[in-house]
Amino acid sequence: MTFRHRHLLGIEPLAPAEITAILDLADSYVDLNRSSVKRGTALEGLTQINMFFEASTRTQASFEIAGKRLGADVMNMAMQASSIKKGETLIDTALTLNAMHPDLLVVRHPHSGAVNLLAEKVNAAVLNAGDGKHEHPTQALLDALTIRRKKGRLHRLTVAICGDIAHSRVARSNILLLGKMENRVRLVGPPTLMPARIHEFGVEVFDNMHAGLEGADVVMMLRLQKERMDGGFIPSEREYYHRFGLDAEKLSYARADAIVMHPGPMNRGVEIDGTIADDINRSVIQEQVEMGVAVRMAAMDLLARNLRAARAPESVLV
Ligand code: NCD
Repeated sequence: MTFRHRHLLGIEPLAPAEITAILDLADSYVDLNRSSVKRGTALEGLTQINMFFEASTRTQASFEIAGKRLGADVMNMAMQASSIKKGETLIDTALTLNAMHPDLLVVRHPHSGAVNLLAEKVNAAVLNAGDGKHEHPTQALLDALTIRRKKGRLHRLTVAICGDIAHSRVARSNILLLGKMENRVRLVGPPTLMPARIHEFGVEVFDNMHAGLEGADVVMMLRLQKERMDGGFIPSEREYYHRFGLDAEKLSYARADAIVMHPGPMNRGVEIDGTIADDINRSVIQEQVEMGVAVRMAAMDLLARNLRAARAPESVLV
């Protein structure tokens, strides 16, 4: 087996061969998802619980569809309306759920590190669906699958990640993944939206779109994460759009065959012009959503294989 983890908490612990194994399996699930009968058996008999402590539309729906297509019993916990409101701690909630014997726990949480902490307390395989500003591994994997399918490779590409890098777990996971696969990563945005000590990540940093996009194969736009800001990061949305919003003129600095990506949800007219986002010749935003389901099926399938192997009495897997 080429993927030997109990949980999927981040890109950081993954080896390049493990990333490739997930993407290869995901490719086969893309075919399944495009067929008329979308039914696999990899998760049959398993219980998947989605715990989203932060609002989510596409990620939660994507994990739910992925689990159902592979035969899992899927339950969504409405965490906003739950006993968290009554003061229960994250760990108590986790232990309560653990007693119901779930096999897969998909967790999104506003605090960086919360999902790792939870993974230490439960028997299920835990998948991080985004924790604070830390990691969002399935997003980086679905982005990688989209890039690999569109560009025919996932190495020696120049990828410009643009916008609100400082607040973005998507940026962090993508920087890690693209670096492991030997691509050139550029970060483009105002200095106020760059994390401290960013140069340690082996990336190039630009504060203007012209230089940052020059010759790029992939232009990845990020949402301005207003909910994680307490004011003062940008002068105004108008000014931000003028300097950093992706429009046809700024995109013309990139390679003529460059693809445009965005993890969603988009702020049209803030970080991206609506016509660019909708241009099917450049934008792969809908493909990203499609790849998301396949990547999550692949990740849960691989984790379930390890779970079953670990439960088998003769197992040597740790
Ligand atoms: C991202 C997230 O939640 O981190 N969205 C997503 O998973 N589709 C990015 C964002 O919220 O801007």
